[in-house]
Amino acid sequence: MSEAVLILKDVSKTYASSSEKLTILRSVSFSVEAGKIVVITGESGCGKSTLLNLIGGLDTPTSGLIEAGRYQVGALSEDGLTKYRRNVLGLVFQFHYLLREFTALENIMLPARIAGLSYPEAREKAESLITDVGLESRKNHYPTALSGGERQRIAVARALVNNPLLLLADEPTGNLDEGNSRMVEELLFSVVRKHGKTLLLVTHDSQLARRADQHYTLHGGELLSV
Ligand SMILES: Nc1ncnc2c1ncn2[C@@H]1O[C@H](COP(=O)(O)OP(=O)(O)O)[C@@H](O)[C@H]1O
Ligand SMILES: [Mg+2]
Repeated sequence: MSEAVLILKDVSKTYASSSEKLTILRSVSFSVEAGKIVVITGESGCGKSTLLNLIGGLDTPTSGLIEAGRYQVGALSEDGLTKYRRNVLGLVFQFHYLLREFTALENIMLPARIAGLSYPEAREKAESLITDVGLESRKNHYPTALSGGERQRIAVARALVNNPLLLLADEPTGNLDEGNSRMVEELLFSVVRKHGKTLLLVTHDSQLARRADQHYTLHGGELLSV
């Protein structure tokens, strides 16, 4: 049996306002093994982004444990969180967050440069990844000159440049039309498989579950195996 990259044990999340308590996640437990693709689907508002934010260390669970790449995510200091994000995670969101003053290739290089790679090393990695997502002919283009689907493919390449242990994707096709959604789906899954990466993807687009190794759905705060 291969090693678990991510383990959640009885993770619950409750938001409390002055008048009411809103329980979003109820005792969610699952694990993701190295090299697997896990997809969690569910309707809008069911708690998918809340779950990914807990795993990403952007929010803390009300109770339960989250371990990713040997980090206890709920118990990290600011320094620990920075290290965790840099050493373990790659992130893809619904919006691409590419920097408009940099070219496609430079956007992919940026996290590698921040992590301390030399310019030639970062460039070599970025060139290889931009080829993987089929956009080598667009490497010197700025984000404004790319289509929505192309920007998202660049965002996928950028998320992989530091060789993350765990890739987290939140509605990666959420802003795209049907054709571009399927194109991004194809490239995301093929590049993740090619590099043997571990992916946890949450989405309301149930088609994205077709090529998952494991498929769960979130309903009423509970995680159910599909
Ligand atoms: N900071 C917060 N305070 C109170 N409620 C929140 C907060 N963040 C999210 N929620 C609520 O949690 C629920 C789940 O939200 P979310 O995780 O964004 O759902 P999804 O990503 O599945 O669409 C929603 O009802 C939302 O209003
Ligand atoms: Mg969401």
